[in-house]
Amino acid sequence: MSGKIYLYPVWLRLWHGLNAILIILLIISGVSMQYTNPANPFIRFDIAVSMHNLSGVILTINYCWFLFGTITTPNGKYYKLTFKGLLGRLIKQFTYYTFGIFKHEKPPFPVTKESKFNPLQQFTYVAAMFVLVPIVIITGWALLYPEFVLTKIMGGSGLKINDFFHVILGFFVSFFMLIHIYFCTIGATFVSNFKSMINGFHESH
Ligand code: HEM
Repeated sequence: MSGKIYLYPVWLRLWHGLNAILIILLIISGVSMQYTNPANPFIRFDIAVSMHNLSGVILTINYCWFLFGTITTPNGKYYKLTFKGLLGRLIKQFTYYTFGIFKHEKPPFPVTKESKFNPLQQFTYVAAMFVLVPIVIITGWALLYPEFVLTKIMGGSGLKINDFFHVILGFFVSFFMLIHIYFCTIGATFVSNFKSMINGFHESH
């Protein structure tokens, strides 16, 4: 089946573009704060802190925008995971990516207006948007105001546990993004999925 389907409304594309830019800024400033030598930093420490904090605050507002849009528009239906038979569907899609695609087989879950994500996409998008990103945001705010939550309620150790989750899950988000971009290249053409996120239309094989 070939053709174009309008799947990415303007509000979603605006959220996604800003989200991608902010996550890249957060990764650059976060990695710089964590690894560079203070005497010779990649980004000067105080600048990296401000860059990270500001990007995090804007990301939170943008995330609320995504949540609001996803709850109030038909886009929410694509994120409703059905657990029954999920493992089988994930394996079917995985087998397609590892074997079927090289034999030019048809995708087992073609993109339609009713179902725009294949099972692997749906699972990873739900995990990223409803588990990983919210935890990174919440732990980030807790680090911004440690005196309210972490030291008072949880004691000194709360700070370390919170920091641990923020950093580890932050790495998972970075990892998600790399794999996500790679899989986005597997479209009708190398660039067609990237074009979808600009013009809103998905191009089928
Ligand atoms: C430079 C970085 C990025 C690029 C080039 C990129 C590219 C794309 C493309 C081409 C699509 C449409 C195809 C598809 O649905 O799979 C897409 C959708 C999506 N991306 Fe990204 N992405 C980036 C960063 C991110 C990040 C950081 C996140 C989340 C943390 C993210 C989450 C999503 C989600 C949830 C969708 C589906 C949106 C929907 O249709 O409801 N992306 N991305």
